Amino acid sequence: MQSFFRAPPRLPLVAPSILSSDFANLAADCRDALAAGGDLLHVDVMDGHFVPNLTLGPALTRSLHRALPGAFLDVHLMVRDPGVFVGPFIEAGAGNITFHVEAIGLEGCVRLAERVRGMGATAGIAINPPTQVRDLLGSLDAFDLILVMSVNPGFGGQAFIPEVLAKTREISPRLRPEQRLEMDGGISPETAPAVREAGCDVLVAGSSLFGRPSAERRSLIRAIRGA
Ligand code: DX5
Ligand code: ZN
Repeated sequence: MQSFFRAPPRLPLVAPSILSSDFANLAADCRDALAAGGDLLHVDVMDGHFVPNLTLGPALTRSLHRALPGAFLDVHLMVRDPGVFVGPFIEAGAGNITFHVEAIGLEGCVRLAERVRGMGATAGIAINPPTQVRDLLGSLDAFDLILVMSVNPGFGGQAFIPEVLAKTREISPRLRPEQRLEMDGGISPETAPAVREAGCDVLVAGSSLFGRPSAERRSLIRAIRGA
């Protein structure tokens, strides 16, 4: 389970983002997205400080893990102080935890990744659209996953920012086979081909999946995956 990102069943992976699901029917919506071919669940955690929105915490993550114990939970921490939350989320069932360089700096992220690995999960570093990739390139090795945001985080349903693809083109050739390159924000069947061509192998999709009827999700996921 914990080696999911290092040894994925297939690539690219499609990660339905539960932010756009029906929270009153969360387990059913997630089960549906996985049955339609989703590889894992992307769990967006927002604290109202790092981003101007509030979402969910460890308790809901634990309930989701209990309802769907076979689902890999990719927790994306959009919070000002991620160090406080990694333990509770891993205990709640998170398989991967990603935190932002804008929140705690590169050195802070490297240290936190070590802690996360020590607790049995994989660790990701995320960068927002305005953040340059140059400083990160020497430290890629410290992370299991690099998340390049293709919207400014905070809300689902925003328009894809194509300029960020230059960053994944730069990162992709420097990664080892067991490291993943994830993109998050505005991914749909229309934008996904460029995302895959730019080297990403984990494609997060929220509103383009959960905003559509269940019957369409299988073909949407196939189109996003490109296979
Ligand atoms: C944005 C979140 C995303 C969001 C993506 O801050 O990190 O994961 O759910 O939603 P869409 O796919 O609708 O852009
Ligand atoms: Zn996210």
